[in-house]
Amino acid sequence: MASIDGPLSVLRPLAKLTHCLMFYTLIAATIRGAASSQALLLPPRADCQSLDSPNQHSQLYPGYATGNLNGTTLIVPIPLQTAREVIPDEYEIAEAAYRELLPSFPAGMYPMVAQIVHDHDIRVSSLNASLPDFSRASLEFPFIDIFGDGHSSFRWAGTFLITASNELAIEGAESYGITVHPATFDPPCDAYIHTLDGTMYAHSQSNDTAASKFLTIDTEPSVWNVPYPLDFIMNVTNQPVFANPQLCDYYLRLYNTSLTTGETAPVPVVGNVRTNLEPFTTPQSWDGVYGWRLATPFLEPLGPSVCQ
Ligand SMILES: *[C@@H]1O[C@H](CO)[C@@H](O)[C@H](O)[C@H]1NC(C)=O
Ligand SMILES: *[C@@H]1O[C@H](CO)[C@@H](O)[C@H](O)[C@H]1NC(C)=O
Ligand SMILES: *[C@@H]1O[C@H](CO)[C@@H](O)[C@H](O)[C@H]1NC(C)=O
Ligand SMILES: *[C@@H]1O[C@H](CO)[C@@H](O)[C@H](O)[C@H]1NC(C)=O
Ligand SMILES: *[C@@H]1O[C@H](CO)[C@@H](O)[C@H](O)[C@H]1NC(C)=O
Repeated sequence: MASIDGPLSVLRPLAKLTHCLMFYTLIAATIRGAASSQALLLPPRADCQSLDSPNQHSQLYPGYATGNLNGTTLIVPIPLQTAREVIPDEYEIAEAAYRELLPSFPAGMYPMVAQIVHDHDIRVSSLNASLPDFSRASLEFPFIDIFGDGHSSFRWAGTFLITASNELAIEGAESYGITVHPATFDPPCDAYIHTLDGTMYAHSQSNDTAASKFLTIDTEPSVWNVPYPLDFIMNVTNQPVFANPQLCDYYLRLYNTSLTTGETAPVPVVGNVRTNLEPFTTPQSWDGVYGWRLATPFLEPLGPSVCQ
């Protein structure tokens, strides 16, 4: 999963994605177009086929859940004091660890992560099993020193929006102690969508409309200003994830395959985040935040391990 991506205690035999939200993109575009007149989306595809690259590594790692993870990962600088308020008291923040990797990161700030990603072509080769694709959105807190030893960094991810139709993904995430809001994503079957004005857009909204949890990211390429090198993103995205520090997800993204080169190479971006999601208790928005659009293969153990 990200953390979630995981949960395979509940895997069932090779299942076909049967639940296609085929008109959702069109409806969402119409609503959004009316609201902002900014986003005119390309025509939706007639099925829920994803543009994501196929899983080509499941047989290399037969005992793991494998798939490709594609999406937008932004680093949102928030005041350290705010981070301290929203991160549970019992966890330390390893400020020295992120300053070592990013010496120029602004003083008094903390690098929170906002992301919307799509998990595609998820398979466990040894079980001849697969899980339908799903999307997830989250605010995550890297560089958490759960043992107070000053350097080991874990990523706290306590809450996710996850594709409502994917009960297995939802249960899997919950098995790690994560709070899940079943949600609807736009686009429904991909990581983001190109709008005609050149931005990339992804939106998630909880199905429970009374709760009104959402996360929206729109970005454009940022070729000349790249404050966070890909190495930093690689480090953050490969920190073990936890919601409950007894249960870590040693999820690994692979940055050494053909997906991170050539046409599908990561793209540095800048954009905006709009959200109403835990651990914040009120809606938040951040503009002009930087990060990357990227896709990588991932490997995930079949269940949680003790964090160590
Ligand atoms: C990631 O998703 C975008 C949007 O759907 C797609 O254009 C791109 O090809 C995907 N990248 C990979 C490596 O799957
Ligand atoms: C794997 O699953 C597929 C589809 O259900 C089936 O056709 C195939 O025989 C299975 N292979 C093994 C080794 O169980
Ligand atoms: C979630 O909401 C969407 C959009 O209203 C709907 O199409 C879908 O069926 C809902 N899914 C569940 C599991 O309630
Ligand atoms: C992140 O960087 C730190 C400092 O170089 C290093 O100790 C740690 O192993 C890295 N973590 C990952 C997951 O790459
Ligand atoms: C890619 O990285 C993974 C994880 O670090 C490693 O196991 C694998 O051997 C690497 N593959 C290549 C071709 O270097």
